[in-house]
Amino acid sequence: MKKFYITTPIYYVNDIPHIGHAYTTIAADMIARFKKLDGFDVMFLTGTDEHGQKVGKSAEIAGVDPQDFVDKVSQNFKDLMPVIDAQYDVFMRTTEERHKTATQHIWKVLEANGDIYLDSYKGWYSVRDEAFYDASEIVDGKAPTGAPVEWVEEESYFFRLSKYQEPLLDYFEKNPGAIAPEGRKNEVLSFIKSGLRDLSISRTTFSWGIPVPGNAKHIMYVWLDALTNYITAAGYPEKMNFWPASLHLVGKDILRFHCVYWPAFLMSAGLPLPERVFAHGWWTAEGEKMSKSLGNVIDPVKLVDEFGADTVRYFMMREISFGNDGDFYLDNLKKRLDSDLANAWGNLVQRVLAFIAKNLDGKIDDIPQTDEEILKLSKGLINTLRQDIDSQKLHHYLEHVFELIYAANQYVDAQKPWTLRREAPKRMMEVLHVLLTLIRDIAIYLSPILTRSSKKVLEMLHIQGTTFETLQEPLNTNMTITPPEPLFQKSGV
Ligand code: MSP
Repeated sequence: MKKFYITTPIYYVNDIPHIGHAYTTIAADMIARFKKLDGFDVMFLTGTDEHGQKVGKSAEIAGVDPQDFVDKVSQNFKDLMPVIDAQYDVFMRTTEERHKTATQHIWKVLEANGDIYLDSYKGWYSVRDEAFYDASEIVDGKAPTGAPVEWVEEESYFFRLSKYQEPLLDYFEKNPGAIAPEGRKNEVLSFIKSGLRDLSISRTTFSWGIPVPGNAKHIMYVWLDALTNYITAAGYPEKMNFWPASLHLVGKDILRFHCVYWPAFLMSAGLPLPERVFAHGWWTAEGEKMSKSLGNVIDPVKLVDEFGADTVRYFMMREISFGNDGDFYLDNLKKRLDSDLANAWGNLVQRVLAFIAKNLDGKIDDIPQTDEEILKLSKGLINTLRQDIDSQKLHHYLEHVFELIYAANQYVDAQKPWTLRREAPKRMMEVLHVLLTLIRDIAIYLSPILTRSSKKVLEMLHIQGTTFETLQEPLNTNMTITPPEPLFQKSGV
Protein backbone atom coordinates (compact mmCIF):
# COMPACT_ATOMS: atom_id res chain seq x y z
CA MET A 1 0.00 0.00 0.00
CA LYS A 2 1.37 3.42 -0.89
CA LYS A 3 2.07 5.60 2.12
CA PHE A 4 0.98 9.17 2.63
CA TYR A 5 2.18 11.20 5.59
CA ILE A 6 0.59 14.59 6.16
CA THR A 7 1.21 17.02 9.02
CA THR A 8 -0.16 20.24 10.45
CA PRO A 9 2.10 22.55 12.43
CA ILE A 10 2.01 21.75 16.10
CA TYR A 11 0.14 24.52 17.86
CA TYR A 12 1.56 26.71 20.60
CA VAL A 13 -0.27 26.10 23.83
CA ASN A 14 -0.12 29.70 24.96
CA ASP A 15 -3.78 30.32 24.23
CA ILE A 16 -7.11 28.74 23.26
CA PRO A 17 -7.50 27.48 19.68
CA HIS A 18 -8.84 29.94 17.10
CA ILE A 19 -10.06 29.74 13.56
CA GLY A 20 -6.52 29.85 12.09
CA HIS A 21 -5.65 26.63 13.91
CA ALA A 22 -8.91 25.03 12.81
CA TYR A 23 -8.12 26.06 9.23
CA THR A 24 -4.83 24.17 8.79
CA THR A 25 -6.30 21.19 10.58
CA ILE A 26 -9.42 21.03 8.41
CA ALA A 27 -7.33 21.29 5.24
CA ALA A 28 -5.04 18.49 6.40
CA ASP A 29 -8.04 16.42 7.41
CA MET A 30 -9.67 16.86 4.03
CA ILE A 31 -6.52 15.70 2.23
CA ALA A 32 -5.95 12.80 4.66
CA ARG A 33 -9.53 11.58 4.26
CA PHE A 34 -9.28 11.79 0.48
CA LYS A 35 -6.09 9.74 0.48
CA LYS A 36 -7.63 7.14 2.77
CA LEU A 37 -10.60 6.78 0.41
CA ASP A 38 -8.12 6.55 -2.46
CA GLY A 39 -6.43 3.50 -0.96
CA PHE A 40 -3.35 5.05 0.65
CA ASP A 41 -1.91 4.03 4.01
CA VAL A 42 -2.20 7.45 5.65
CA MET A 43 -0.71 9.00 8.73
CA PHE A 44 -2.18 12.37 9.67
CA LEU A 45 -0.20 14.10 12.40
CA THR A 46 -1.16 17.08 14.47
CA GLY A 47 -0.36 18.15 18.00
CA THR A 48 0.95 20.81 20.31
CA ASP A 49 4.20 22.75 20.65
CA GLU A 50 4.64 23.04 24.39
CA HIS A 51 8.13 24.34 25.13
CA GLY A 52 9.90 27.66 24.78
CA GLN A 53 9.82 31.11 26.24
CA LYS A 54 6.40 32.06 24.92
CA VAL A 55 4.62 29.10 26.50
CA GLY A 56 6.78 29.37 29.63
CA LYS A 57 5.76 33.01 30.05
CA SER A 58 2.08 32.22 29.55
CA ALA A 59 2.29 29.63 32.34
CA GLU A 60 4.02 32.17 34.53
CA ILE A 61 1.34 34.79 33.89
CA ALA A 62 -1.33 32.19 34.67
CA GLY A 63 0.57 31.46 37.87
CA VAL A 64 0.60 27.74 37.11
CA ASP A 65 3.34 25.14 36.95
CA PRO A 66 4.30 24.92 33.24
CA GLN A 67 3.58 21.21 32.96
CA ASP A 68 0.09 21.64 34.46
CA PHE A 69 -0.44 24.62 32.18
CA VAL A 70 0.50 22.79 28.98
CA ASP A 71 -1.51 19.72 29.98
CA LYS A 72 -4.58 21.89 30.24
CA VAL A 73 -4.12 23.99 27.11
CA SER A 74 -3.03 21.03 25.00
CA GLN A 75 -6.27 19.33 25.96
CA ASN A 76 -8.20 22.29 24.51
CA PHE A 77 -6.55 21.62 21.17
CA LYS A 78 -7.25 17.91 21.42
CA ASP A 79 -10.87 18.66 22.25
CA LEU A 80 -11.18 20.86 19.17
CA MET A 81 -10.49 17.89 16.88
CA PRO A 82 -13.83 16.05 17.25
CA VAL A 83 -15.64 19.42 17.16
CA ILE A 84 -14.32 20.17 13.68
CA ASP A 85 -14.39 16.44 12.88
CA ALA A 86 -10.64 16.18 12.27
CA GLN A 87 -9.67 12.53 12.32
CA TYR A 88 -5.96 12.61 13.13
CA ASP A 89 -3.90 9.45 13.50
CA VAL A 90 -1.31 10.83 15.91
CA PHE A 91 -1.53 13.80 18.29
CA MET A 92 2.05 14.70 19.26
CA ARG A 93 2.90 16.64 22.38
CA THR A 94 6.46 17.92 22.62
CA THR A 95 6.50 17.28 26.36
CA GLU A 96 6.25 13.53 25.73
CA GLU A 97 9.27 11.49 26.77
CA ARG A 98 9.71 9.91 23.31
CA HIS A 99 9.99 13.37 21.84
CA LYS A 100 12.68 14.40 24.30
CA THR A 101 14.61 11.26 23.33
CA ALA A 102 14.25 11.98 19.60
CA THR A 103 15.22 15.64 19.94
CA GLN A 104 18.29 14.93 22.05
CA HIS A 105 19.22 12.22 19.59
CA ILE A 106 19.08 14.47 16.53
CA TRP A 107 21.12 17.07 18.44
CA LYS A 108 23.85 14.49 19.00
CA VAL A 109 23.80 13.51 15.33
CA LEU A 110 24.14 17.13 14.18
CA GLU A 111 26.93 17.59 16.69
CA ALA A 112 28.72 14.41 15.59
CA ASN A 113 28.56 15.71 12.02
CA GLY A 114 30.42 18.82 13.07
CA ASP A 115 27.46 21.15 12.59
CA ILE A 116 27.12 22.43 16.17
CA TYR A 117 29.55 24.71 17.99
CA LEU A 118 29.51 26.82 21.14
CA ASP A 119 29.79 30.61 20.89
CA SER A 120 27.77 33.56 22.08
CA TYR A 121 24.69 35.19 20.59
CA LYS A 122 24.24 38.92 20.45
CA GLY A 123 21.15 40.09 18.67
CA TRP A 124 17.38 40.41 18.44
CA TYR A 125 14.87 37.83 19.55
CA SER A 126 11.10 37.87 19.34
CA VAL A 127 9.35 35.78 21.94
CA ARG A 128 6.03 36.05 20.11
CA ASP A 129 7.54 34.60 16.93
CA GLU A 130 10.14 32.51 18.79
CA ALA A 131 12.56 33.78 16.17
CA PHE A 132 15.99 35.37 15.96
CA TYR A 133 16.14 38.38 13.68
CA ASP A 134 19.04 39.97 11.96
CA ALA A 135 19.54 43.71 12.65
CA SER A 136 18.81 44.39 8.98
CA GLU A 137 15.34 42.89 9.40
CA ILE A 138 14.25 45.14 12.25
CA VAL A 139 11.74 47.79 11.18
CA ASP A 140 10.92 50.62 13.60
CA GLY A 141 12.22 48.58 16.50
CA LYS A 142 10.00 45.62 15.63
CA ALA A 143 10.29 42.27 13.88
CA PRO A 144 9.21 42.22 10.22
CA THR A 145 6.03 40.50 11.47
CA GLY A 146 5.28 43.46 13.73
CA ALA A 147 6.13 41.46 16.84
CA PRO A 148 8.14 43.12 19.63
CA VAL A 149 11.81 42.12 19.86
CA GLU A 150 14.28 42.09 22.70
CA TRP A 151 18.06 42.32 22.72
CA VAL A 152 19.71 39.08 23.78
CA GLU A 153 23.34 38.47 24.71
CA GLU A 154 24.17 35.02 25.96
CA GLU A 155 26.31 31.95 25.48
CA SER A 156 24.70 29.83 22.80
CA TYR A 157 25.21 26.79 20.65
CA PHE A 158 25.09 27.45 16.93
CA PHE A 159 24.10 25.31 13.99
CA ARG A 160 26.19 25.73 10.82
CA LEU A 161 23.31 26.90 8.68
CA SER A 162 25.66 28.83 6.40
CA LYS A 163 27.14 25.53 5.24
CA TYR A 164 23.74 24.56 3.80
CA GLN A 165 23.12 27.63 1.69
CA GLU A 166 24.28 26.05 -1.58
CA PRO A 167 22.97 22.52 -0.86
CA LEU A 168 19.52 24.02 -0.16
CA LEU A 169 19.48 26.08 -3.34
CA ASP A 170 20.62 23.07 -5.28
CA TYR A 171 17.94 20.90 -3.69
CA PHE A 172 15.11 23.30 -4.46
CA GLU A 173 16.29 23.66 -8.02
CA LYS A 174 16.24 19.89 -8.50
CA ASN A 175 12.90 19.51 -6.67
CA PRO A 176 10.72 22.29 -8.01
CA GLY A 177 7.59 20.93 -6.30
CA ALA A 178 9.16 20.94 -2.84
CA ILE A 179 7.72 24.34 -1.87
CA ALA A 180 4.35 25.70 -2.93
CA PRO A 181 2.71 27.98 -3.93
CA GLU A 182 5.27 29.41 -6.35
CA GLY A 183 5.28 32.86 -4.74
CA ARG A 184 6.21 31.37 -1.38
CA LYS A 185 8.99 29.36 -2.98
CA ASN A 186 10.44 32.54 -4.41
CA GLU A 187 10.33 34.13 -0.97
CA VAL A 188 12.30 31.24 0.46
CA LEU A 189 14.82 31.25 -2.37
CA SER A 190 15.50 34.96 -2.03
CA PHE A 191 15.91 34.58 1.71
CA ILE A 192 18.47 31.83 1.18
CA LYS A 193 20.24 33.78 -1.57
CA SER A 194 20.50 36.82 0.67
CA GLY A 195 22.98 34.75 2.70
CA LEU A 196 22.42 32.28 5.51
CA ARG A 197 24.11 32.91 8.82
CA ASP A 198 24.67 30.26 11.44
CA LEU A 199 21.65 29.80 13.66
CA SER A 200 21.56 30.06 17.42
CA ILE A 201 19.97 26.83 18.67
CA SER A 202 20.12 27.10 22.44
CA ARG A 203 19.16 29.52 25.17
CA THR A 204 20.33 29.87 28.76
CA THR A 205 17.97 32.45 30.22
CA PHE A 206 14.97 30.22 30.87
CA SER A 207 14.47 26.56 31.62
CA TRP A 208 11.18 25.47 30.00
CA GLY A 209 12.39 23.15 27.27
CA ILE A 210 14.56 20.19 26.42
CA PRO A 211 18.09 20.37 27.85
CA VAL A 212 21.06 20.17 25.50
CA PRO A 213 22.70 16.75 25.91
CA GLY A 214 25.85 17.12 27.99
CA ASN A 215 25.24 20.75 28.96
CA ALA A 216 21.94 21.11 30.81
CA LYS A 217 22.52 24.82 31.37
CA HIS A 218 21.37 25.20 27.76
CA ILE A 219 17.79 24.68 26.61
CA MET A 220 17.32 23.76 22.98
CA TYR A 221 15.85 26.36 20.66
CA VAL A 222 12.12 25.69 20.56
CA TRP A 223 12.01 25.44 16.76
CA LEU A 224 14.62 22.67 16.66
CA ASP A 225 12.55 20.91 19.30
CA ALA A 226 9.22 21.57 17.52
CA LEU A 227 10.28 20.63 13.99
CA THR A 228 11.68 17.34 15.24
CA ASN A 229 8.13 16.31 16.20
CA TYR A 230 7.55 15.33 12.59
CA ILE A 231 10.11 12.56 12.84
CA THR A 232 9.41 11.66 16.48
CA ALA A 233 5.89 10.78 15.40
CA ALA A 234 7.30 8.63 12.61
CA GLY A 235 9.43 6.63 15.06
CA TYR A 236 12.79 8.44 15.09
CA PRO A 237 15.47 7.54 16.16
CA GLU A 238 14.27 3.99 15.53
CA LYS A 239 13.33 2.84 12.05
CA MET A 240 10.77 5.27 10.68
CA ASN A 241 7.57 3.94 9.29
CA PHE A 242 6.38 7.13 7.67
CA TRP A 243 9.23 9.31 6.49
CA PRO A 244 9.78 11.46 4.51
CA ALA A 245 6.55 13.36 5.00
CA SER A 246 4.51 13.63 1.84
CA LEU A 247 3.19 17.04 2.80
CA HIS A 248 3.78 19.58 5.56
CA LEU A 249 0.88 22.03 5.60
CA VAL A 250 1.89 25.31 7.23
CA GLY A 251 0.82 28.93 7.42
CA LYS A 252 2.78 31.49 5.39
CA ASP A 253 4.27 32.91 8.61
CA ILE A 254 6.30 29.80 9.37
CA LEU A 255 7.83 29.22 5.98
CA ARG A 256 11.40 30.05 6.98
CA PHE A 257 11.40 27.43 9.71
CA HIS A 258 10.00 24.71 7.46
CA CYS A 259 11.81 25.51 4.23
CA VAL A 260 15.22 26.63 5.47
CA TYR A 261 15.98 25.47 9.00
CA TRP A 262 14.17 22.13 8.86
CA PRO A 263 15.66 20.88 5.56
CA ALA A 264 19.11 22.00 6.72
CA PHE A 265 18.75 20.06 10.00
CA LEU A 266 17.60 17.03 8.04
CA MET A 267 20.46 17.27 5.56
CA SER A 268 22.88 17.44 8.45
CA ALA A 269 21.22 14.42 10.08
CA GLY A 270 21.43 12.49 6.80
CA LEU A 271 17.67 12.12 6.58
CA PRO A 272 15.47 12.57 3.51
CA LEU A 273 13.65 15.89 3.12
CA PRO A 274 9.85 16.24 3.14
CA GLU A 275 8.42 15.87 -0.35
CA ARG A 276 6.49 19.10 -0.18
CA VAL A 277 5.74 22.06 2.05
CA PHE A 278 2.59 23.99 1.19
CA ALA A 279 2.00 27.38 2.81
CA HIS A 280 -1.54 28.67 3.11
CA GLY A 281 -2.64 32.25 3.72
CA TRP A 282 -4.08 34.01 6.73
CA TRP A 283 -7.65 34.79 7.68
CA THR A 284 -8.66 38.20 8.83
CA ALA A 285 -12.02 38.83 10.51
CA GLU A 286 -14.39 41.20 8.71
CA GLY A 287 -11.47 43.21 7.36
CA GLU A 288 -9.32 43.28 10.50
CA LYS A 289 -6.41 41.26 11.76
CA MET A 290 -7.66 38.90 14.47
CA SER A 291 -6.27 39.77 17.86
CA LYS A 292 -7.14 39.37 21.47
CA SER A 293 -6.84 43.10 22.06
CA LEU A 294 -9.38 43.85 19.30
CA GLY A 295 -11.60 41.11 20.73
CA ASN A 296 -12.40 39.85 17.24
CA VAL A 297 -10.83 36.39 17.42
CA ILE A 298 -13.22 33.86 15.90
CA ASP A 299 -13.82 30.86 18.12
CA PRO A 300 -14.22 27.73 15.99
CA VAL A 301 -16.15 25.95 18.76
CA LYS A 302 -18.86 28.63 18.87
CA LEU A 303 -19.06 28.66 15.10
CA VAL A 304 -19.55 24.91 14.93
CA ASP A 305 -22.15 25.11 17.70
CA GLU A 306 -24.17 27.49 15.62
CA PHE A 307 -23.67 26.16 12.08
CA GLY A 308 -22.38 22.60 12.42
CA ALA A 309 -18.98 21.20 11.49
CA ASP A 310 -19.84 20.51 7.86
CA THR A 311 -20.78 24.11 7.11
CA VAL A 312 -17.68 25.51 8.80
CA ARG A 313 -15.41 23.03 7.07
CA TYR A 314 -17.01 23.67 3.70
CA PHE A 315 -16.95 27.44 4.04
CA MET A 316 -13.28 27.59 5.02
CA MET A 317 -12.13 25.41 2.17
CA ARG A 318 -14.47 26.90 -0.44
CA GLU A 319 -14.43 30.60 0.30
CA ILE A 320 -10.82 31.42 -0.57
CA SER A 321 -8.25 29.90 -2.87
CA PHE A 322 -6.07 27.72 -0.70
CA GLY A 323 -2.75 29.56 -0.51
CA ASN A 324 -4.26 33.07 -0.52
CA ASP A 325 -5.29 35.27 2.37
CA GLY A 326 -8.98 35.65 3.05
CA ASP A 327 -11.49 37.58 5.01
CA PHE A 328 -13.96 35.89 7.31
CA TYR A 329 -17.42 37.41 6.91
CA LEU A 330 -20.17 35.63 8.75
CA ASP A 331 -22.65 36.74 6.10
CA ASN A 332 -20.62 34.94 3.46
CA LEU A 333 -20.68 31.77 5.50
CA LYS A 334 -24.46 32.04 5.70
CA LYS A 335 -24.71 32.65 1.95
CA ARG A 336 -22.62 29.57 1.20
CA LEU A 337 -24.73 27.51 3.58
CA ASP A 338 -27.95 28.63 1.94
CA SER A 339 -26.98 28.64 -1.72
CA ASP A 340 -24.46 25.80 -2.01
CA LEU A 341 -25.27 23.41 0.78
CA ALA A 342 -29.02 23.81 1.26
CA ASN A 343 -30.26 24.97 -2.16
CA ALA A 344 -27.96 23.05 -4.47
CA TRP A 345 -26.79 19.90 -2.71
CA GLY A 346 -29.43 19.50 0.00
CA ASN A 347 -32.20 20.15 -2.46
CA LEU A 348 -30.92 17.63 -5.00
CA VAL A 349 -30.96 14.90 -2.35
CA GLN A 350 -34.32 16.04 -1.02
CA ARG A 351 -36.19 16.23 -4.30
CA VAL A 352 -34.97 12.88 -5.64
CA LEU A 353 -35.30 10.87 -2.45
CA ALA A 354 -38.64 12.42 -1.47
CA PHE A 355 -40.00 11.66 -4.94
CA ILE A 356 -39.03 8.00 -4.67
CA ALA A 357 -40.30 7.68 -1.10
CA LYS A 358 -43.61 9.36 -1.86
CA ASN A 359 -44.50 8.00 -5.27
CA LEU A 360 -42.80 4.64 -5.50
CA ASP A 361 -42.94 3.33 -1.94
CA GLY A 362 -39.21 3.95 -1.76
CA LYS A 363 -38.38 1.34 -4.41
CA ILE A 364 -36.65 1.67 -7.77
CA ASP A 365 -36.07 -1.00 -10.39
CA ASP A 366 -32.65 -2.34 -11.17
CA ILE A 367 -32.46 -1.03 -14.74
CA PRO A 368 -29.17 0.81 -14.94
CA GLN A 369 -28.76 3.31 -17.76
CA THR A 370 -25.03 3.52 -17.92
CA ASP A 371 -24.55 5.46 -21.15
CA GLU A 372 -25.80 8.76 -19.81
CA GLU A 373 -23.31 11.57 -20.39
CA ILE A 374 -23.71 12.77 -16.86
CA LEU A 375 -22.62 9.44 -15.40
CA LYS A 376 -19.44 9.62 -17.43
CA LEU A 377 -18.88 13.08 -16.06
CA SER A 378 -19.23 11.74 -12.55
CA LYS A 379 -16.94 8.74 -13.04
CA GLY A 380 -14.28 10.89 -14.69
CA LEU A 381 -14.33 13.44 -11.92
CA ILE A 382 -12.11 11.36 -9.67
CA ASN A 383 -9.09 12.09 -11.89
CA THR A 384 -9.65 15.83 -11.70
CA LEU A 385 -10.12 15.64 -7.94
CA ARG A 386 -6.91 13.69 -7.50
CA GLN A 387 -5.05 16.48 -9.25
CA ASP A 388 -6.79 19.08 -7.11
CA ILE A 389 -5.74 17.28 -3.95
CA ASP A 390 -2.16 16.70 -5.09
CA SER A 391 -1.74 20.36 -5.99
CA GLN A 392 -3.58 21.47 -2.81
CA LYS A 393 -6.21 23.31 -4.87
CA LEU A 394 -8.81 22.51 -2.28
CA HIS A 395 -11.21 25.26 -3.41
CA HIS A 396 -11.11 23.84 -6.96
CA TYR A 397 -11.94 20.43 -5.58
CA LEU A 398 -15.18 21.78 -4.15
CA GLU A 399 -15.94 23.85 -7.24
CA HIS A 400 -15.57 20.74 -9.37
CA VAL A 401 -17.89 18.67 -7.20
CA PHE A 402 -20.44 21.47 -7.22
CA GLU A 403 -20.36 21.62 -11.01
CA LEU A 404 -21.56 18.04 -10.90
CA ILE A 405 -24.28 18.95 -8.40
CA TYR A 406 -25.50 21.75 -10.65
CA ALA A 407 -25.45 19.39 -13.63
CA ALA A 408 -27.45 16.82 -11.65
CA ASN A 409 -30.05 19.42 -10.72
CA GLN A 410 -30.31 20.44 -14.37
CA TYR A 411 -30.71 16.79 -15.29
CA VAL A 412 -33.70 16.54 -12.94
CA ASP A 413 -35.24 19.67 -14.46
CA ALA A 414 -34.66 18.46 -18.01
CA GLN A 415 -35.81 14.87 -17.52
CA LYS A 416 -38.82 15.75 -15.35
CA PRO A 417 -39.32 12.41 -13.59
CA TRP A 418 -42.74 13.60 -12.35
CA THR A 419 -43.93 13.82 -15.98
CA LEU A 420 -42.22 10.59 -16.99
CA ARG A 421 -44.09 8.85 -14.22
CA ARG A 422 -47.30 9.17 -16.20
CA GLU A 423 -45.91 9.07 -19.72
CA ALA A 424 -42.92 6.72 -19.64
CA PRO A 425 -42.52 4.89 -16.33
CA LYS A 426 -39.64 2.72 -17.56
CA ARG A 427 -37.65 5.79 -18.56
CA MET A 428 -38.50 7.35 -15.22
CA MET A 429 -36.87 4.37 -13.49
CA GLU A 430 -33.77 4.82 -15.61
CA VAL A 431 -33.56 8.48 -14.74
CA LEU A 432 -34.00 7.80 -11.05
CA HIS A 433 -31.34 5.12 -11.20
CA VAL A 434 -28.96 7.63 -12.74
CA LEU A 435 -29.85 10.20 -10.12
CA LEU A 436 -29.37 7.89 -7.16
CA THR A 437 -26.02 6.81 -8.59
CA LEU A 438 -25.03 10.46 -8.96
CA ILE A 439 -26.13 11.25 -5.42
CA ARG A 440 -24.11 8.32 -4.14
CA ASP A 441 -21.04 9.43 -6.10
CA ILE A 442 -21.35 13.05 -5.00
CA ALA A 443 -21.73 12.02 -1.36
CA ILE A 444 -18.54 9.99 -1.69
CA TYR A 445 -16.70 12.88 -3.33
CA LEU A 446 -17.89 15.25 -0.62
CA SER A 447 -17.16 12.92 2.28
CA PRO A 448 -13.60 14.26 2.87
CA ILE A 449 -15.12 17.65 3.66
CA LEU A 450 -18.84 17.26 4.46
CA THR A 451 -18.06 14.37 6.74
CA ARG A 452 -21.35 14.18 8.60
CA SER A 453 -23.94 14.96 5.95
CA SER A 454 -22.25 12.70 3.39
CA LYS A 455 -22.48 9.85 5.83
CA LYS A 456 -26.18 10.62 6.30
CA VAL A 457 -26.79 10.57 2.55
CA LEU A 458 -24.98 7.27 2.16
CA GLU A 459 -27.03 5.86 5.02
CA MET A 460 -30.21 6.98 3.26
CA LEU A 461 -29.00 4.89 0.33
CA HIS A 462 -28.15 2.01 2.69
CA ILE A 463 -24.47 2.15 1.72
CA GLN A 464 -21.70 1.56 4.24
CA GLY A 465 -17.92 1.54 4.20
CA THR A 466 -17.29 3.32 0.92
CA THR A 467 -13.97 3.96 -0.80
CA PHE A 468 -13.41 5.47 -4.23
CA GLU A 469 -13.73 1.94 -5.60
CA THR A 470 -17.44 2.13 -4.76
CA LEU A 471 -17.77 4.70 -7.55
CA GLN A 472 -17.17 1.98 -10.12
CA GLU A 473 -19.71 -0.41 -8.62
CA PRO A 474 -23.31 -0.60 -9.78
CA LEU A 475 -25.85 0.93 -7.42
CA ASN A 476 -27.53 -1.56 -5.14
CA THR A 477 -31.26 -1.04 -5.68
CA ASN A 478 -32.31 -3.69 -3.23
CA MET A 479 -33.40 -1.18 -0.59
CA THR A 480 -36.23 1.09 0.47
CA ILE A 481 -35.79 4.85 0.49
CA THR A 482 -37.60 6.46 3.38
CA PRO A 483 -38.75 10.12 3.38
CA PRO A 484 -35.56 12.18 3.88
CA GLU A 485 -34.92 14.80 6.53
CA PRO A 486 -33.44 18.04 5.12
CA LEU A 487 -29.63 17.82 5.09
CA PHE A 488 -29.01 21.47 5.99
CA GLN A 489 -30.99 24.10 7.85
CA LYS A 490 -30.81 27.43 6.06
CA SER A 491 -29.37 30.32 8.00
CA GLY A 492 -32.50 32.35 7.48
CA VAL A 493 -30.77 35.52 6.21
N1 MSP B 1 4.23 26.22 17.10
C1 MSP B 1 4.45 26.80 15.83
C2 MSP B 1 4.51 25.73 14.75
C3 MSP B 1 5.52 24.66 14.96
S1 MSP B 1 5.48 23.48 13.71
C4 MSP B 1 6.80 22.52 13.94
C5 MSP B 1 3.34 27.78 15.52
N2 MSP B 1 2.21 27.66 16.20
S2 MSP B 1 0.95 28.62 16.10
O1 MSP B 1 -0.01 28.08 16.99
O2 MSP B 1 1.33 29.96 16.33
O3 MSP B 1 0.45 28.61 14.64
C6 MSP B 1 0.08 27.44 14.04
C7 MSP B 1 -0.52 27.63 12.67
O4 MSP B 1 -1.70 28.41 12.75
C8 MSP B 1 0.42 28.32 11.70
O5 MSP B 1 0.50 27.58 10.51
C9 MSP B 1 -0.25 29.65 11.45
O6 MSP B 1 -0.04 30.07 10.14
C10 MSP B 1 -1.71 29.29 11.66
N3 MSP B 1 -2.50 30.47 11.91
C11 MSP B 1 -2.49 31.27 13.02
N4 MSP B 1 -3.33 32.32 12.80
C12 MSP B 1 -3.87 32.24 11.57
C13 MSP B 1 -4.85 32.97 10.86
N5 MSP B 1 -5.38 34.07 11.31
N6 MSP B 1 -5.22 32.47 9.65
C14 MSP B 1 -4.74 31.29 9.14
N7 MSP B 1 -3.83 30.58 9.80
C15 MSP B 1 -3.27 31.11 10.93
O7 MSP B 1 3.53 28.62 14.66
